[in-house]
Amino acid sequence: MENKMEILINKEDLQKRIKEIAEEIRKDYKDEEVVFCSVLKGAVFFTVDLMKNYEGPCLLDCVRVSSYEGENSTGNVTLKLPLKKENVEGKNIIIVEDIVDTGRTLKYLTEYLKEFNPKSVKTCSLLDKKARRVVEFDADYVGFSIDDLFVIGYGLDYDEKYRNFPYIAYVKND
Ligand code: IMP
Ligand code: MG
Repeated sequence: MENKMEILINKEDLQKRIKEIAEEIRKDYKDEEVVFCSVLKGAVFFTVDLMKNYEGPCLLDCVRVSSYEGENSTGNVTLKLPLKKENVEGKNIIIVEDIVDTGRTLKYLTEYLKEFNPKSVKTCSLLDKKARRVVEFDADYVGFSIDDLFVIGYGLDYDEKYRNFPYIAYVKND
């Protein structure tokens, strides 16, 4: 597959934009504590860099869902690692995702979290593939809007591979 990939967002542009998002979030929450809730596994790389650039009080939590197999979304979002109610109740939650595609994952997670009575719930996604939306959903913070391409790297996988790339690449269909 190596010869069919092209870089879409390089390492420098990724890091620059992530710093900007961290500053934007900090401006919104000021000195209020936020909980960055990372959607495993894809959002791990983004969450780490986002938090390293975040200068306010914050906590880290993780949730795990699955909806994808190969290049296709199965349409069903299943929760593999749930959150503890006490870690959500009364807190400012920011769900951190790698990409919004059909919108199902973030819509499902936002609704799931609201049942635990958080103080607030917002969503932050590094990438947004608007053209692929199936359910109506807009993330509050978005790094980059991208075309309808299958992307890999910086946490994003193709059958669990290529997450380690420090940039975002896309798979060329020919
Ligand atoms: P959604 O529920 O359809 O919005 O899908 C979100 C999830 O699908 C993301 O968290 C990714 O794990 C996965 N996904 C969507 N598009 C891509 C892609 O282009 N490359 C790799 N994973 C993707
Ligand atoms: Mg994901």
